[in-house]
Amino acid sequence: MKHLAILGASGHGKVIADAAEQLGWQQVTFFDDAWPQVKKNGPWDVQGDTESLIARLSDFEGVVVGIGNNRIRSEKHRLLSVAEANLVSIIHPSAIVSPHASVGFGAVVFANAVINPCAVVGAGAIVNTGAIVEHDCVVGDFAHVSPNAVLAGGVTLGEEVWVGACASVRQLISVGRDGIVGMGAVVTKDVESGATVMGNPARTRNQ
Ligand SMILES: CC(C)(COP(=O)(O)OP(=O)(O)OC[C@H]1O[C@@H](n2cnc3c(N)ncnc32)[C@H](O)[C@@H]1OP(=O)(O)O)[C@@H](O)C(=O)NCCC(=O)NCCS
Repeated sequence: MKHLAILGASGHGKVIADAAEQLGWQQVTFFDDAWPQVKKNGPWDVQGDTESLIARLSDFEGVVVGIGNNRIRSEKHRLLSVAEANLVSIIHPSAIVSPHASVGFGAVVFANAVINPCAVVGAGAIVNTGAIVEHDCVVGDFAHVSPNAVLAGGVTLGEEVWVGACASVRQLISVGRDGIVGMGAVVTKDVESGATVMGNPARTRNQ
């Protein structure tokens, strides 16, 4: 029996569970710190919190964190890693991932995403539905490329960067750690760490 545990009973977690089933995982069980108040996530059971998951790691062939918030996903992933969980990546069968690209432990790649050669997707990163990560890109650990976002060739995203839905990032641009690119932005210049940019062409939001 291939049994997957997902920490984070969220909408994002549901998409991971769905992809996992299509990949042949036979059972999916959620854990969430809102348990026991939360006992279901769509059709899937929620059976405990982070602590309960750590106590039951040997019941699961794989574990993944299904939390959309980059910082919290990173914290939970690191906690599970220290507990020696078998953190797996989940890549939807319709995603196209070049054999010359790499996808880190605990990363998820959703339906119709494309990851082209020599791209490196870090641990715990999210490449969401229909996103394109072109050749030679680096997607930092715990970064998130939202649905239909496009990273042109050689783009570098630092750790925990969030690129919003339908945003485009010009080739060879860097987005520094914790940077946020708003939905639909067209990024033509490097983005400083921690900055939020929006619009076309993207401008830094005044703090
Ligand atoms: C950029 C972003 C992070 C800002 O969020 P926020 O800090 O909560 O900002 P607010 O919603 O308070 O908006 C602040 C202002 O920026 C504008 N704004 C927000 N997002 C914008 C965007 N992507 N492009 C242009 N303007 C935007 C708002 O209209 C508002 O303008 P106003 O002050 O004139 O009313 C957010 O809007 C965004 O784009 N998130 C990505 C969402 C996404 O892709 N989700 C996919 C998940 S799978």
